[in-house]
Amino acid sequence: MRYDVLTIFPEMIRAYLKEGILARAAKRGLIEVQVTDIRAFAGGAHKNTDDRPFGGGDGMVMKPGPIYRALDSVPRVEENSLVLLLTPQGKRFDQEMAWELSRQKQLILVCGRYEGIDERIRELCVDRELSIGDYVLSGGELAALVLMDAVSRLVPGVLGGQNSTQEDSFEDGLLEYPHYTRPRVFMGREVPEILLSGDHEKIRQWRRAQSLKRTLEKRPDLLQKAQLTGEDGAILEKLKEGAEKQ
Ligand code: ADE
Repeated sequence: MRYDVLTIFPEMIRAYLKEGILARAAKRGLIEVQVTDIRAFAGGAHKNTDDRPFGGGDGMVMKPGPIYRALDSVPRVEENSLVLLLTPQGKRFDQEMAWELSRQKQLILVCGRYEGIDERIRELCVDRELSIGDYVLSGGELAALVLMDAVSRLVPGVLGGQNSTQEDSFEDGLLEYPHYTRPRVFMGREVPEILLSGDHEKIRQWRRAQSLKRTLEKRPDLLQKAQLTGEDGAILEKLKEGAEKQ
């Protein structure tokens, strides 16, 4: 997977990529991140990348020229390399979209700043607009990092264990079960007995029930789209009955 990130703050992107799973993946050649400084493509003595909006109003708008030329400078790995614009107006990014994007060879991420970017860039150059949530950030850089992190974890080989992503929250539409490690007792609280039993089938059932319980309590909206078995249905019925009695 190759990412090209277009930004006026290249160091924001590079700083995050220096450590952790993405840094390791880059070292191993599983992902490649090229950061393009939009300012390098700005003209004039001041290298301005923004200007006042036509029609008046507060705030500045990113000029189309520098972004257009920066995009033009990015080598395309495949004919259908996607150009993504990070913006609160985009489609909401989620785990399903992360899987879809992880199958691309190249993602070109345009980070907006100021009040927004000139509309003609969106019309001429952008394949998709993505948002990471219903709130407004000061720029697309954090959103680009969120996207690259979530997508890279799904690129084969980036995470150690084969099953590491399969059991993540959201993979089957449910939240993940609770985790415990040593010590067995911490501040008077014990690890659930069943996890020490060595009975793998019982442990699997317990974890599944915990996933369902958590999802029902914290994110009931997810249950509508989740992939549920008959066994899950029965567990959910019991959980709901229990909740009604309380
Ligand atoms: N830029 C500013 N806010 C954003 C958001 N919520 N998602 C993606 N890009 C953004």
